[in-house]
Amino acid sequence: MLNRMSASAEGPSTEWAALAAELLQARRTVLPRRLVEPGPDAAQRHAILMAASAAPDHGQLLPWRFIEVPLARRGELAEAFAQALLERDATAKAEELERAREKAFRAPWLMLAVVDGERGDDPEVDLSERILSAGCAVQNLLLMATALGFGSALTSGKALKSDALRRLFGLLESEQALCFISIGTVVSHKAGRPRPVVADYFQCLGEPGADQPRRDKAPCTRQEDIQSSIPLDPQGRALPPGRR
Ligand SMILES: Cc1cc2nc3c(=O)[nH]c(=O)nc-3n(C[C@H](O)[C@H](O)[C@H](O)COP(=O)(O)O)c2cc1C
Repeated sequence: MLNRMSASAEGPSTEWAALAAELLQARRTVLPRRLVEPGPDAAQRHAILMAASAAPDHGQLLPWRFIEVPLARRGELAEAFAQALLERDATAKAEELERAREKAFRAPWLMLAVVDGERGDDPEVDLSERILSAGCAVQNLLLMATALGFGSALTSGKALKSDALRRLFGLLESEQALCFISIGTVVSHKAGRPRPVVADYFQCLGEPGADQPRRDKAPCTRQEDIQSSIPLDPQGRALPPGRR
């Protein structure tokens, strides 16, 4: 068991840092079509949702929420995806509509992340802060899911802004659908994407180049794929450190 105090009052804990780094690097996108049953059970879902509560939240406005789409309601989501496509393209073909519908049935646990630009009646905390808080909450969910051995993905797309989807989820005028979160057991996974190195996203004020905004796409080609070194069990779940 880690000593909780060691990371704060008694100075940095190497053990915490190593675990945190491993967990952070182990999280990677596993697309919903590669996520199968079993999904997290009730206790695991609770643990994952609890992780969101630790997100920074300026003014404690709780400007985000997560809406689960249980398996029994996936058909309604499928219809909303098809309707969303028709909103954009009234001439969409039957196969295109079917492809849109299929997306609703992937991954055992599916949630929509929603941010509210007005909740909490504090105009000082603008939408960008609220979305940032939502992003932190989402990352906490993903990290806890990873720690429990599950794969996860965020997915977006034009349907998020559609009337059909907004109606289905009963979104308020002030709410925006941010992304879907899919969680499940990894059936197969591709090699992890290369990640950027620190120099690609860190600058120091006063140093040459720091006043130049970065507009080029991050090269993302120099860091070795650290995640692929995380041992997995036959089901593709990350093995806890003691079982490697
Ligand atoms: C808000 C948001 C929406 C995303 N939507 C999609 C998506 O629709 N399709 C997809 O393949 N990846 C999506 N991603 C995942 C990114 O593509 C992925 O995180 C990125 O490529 C880095 O890979 P990694 O997560 O494995 O580190 C989304 C990520 C975020 C933050």
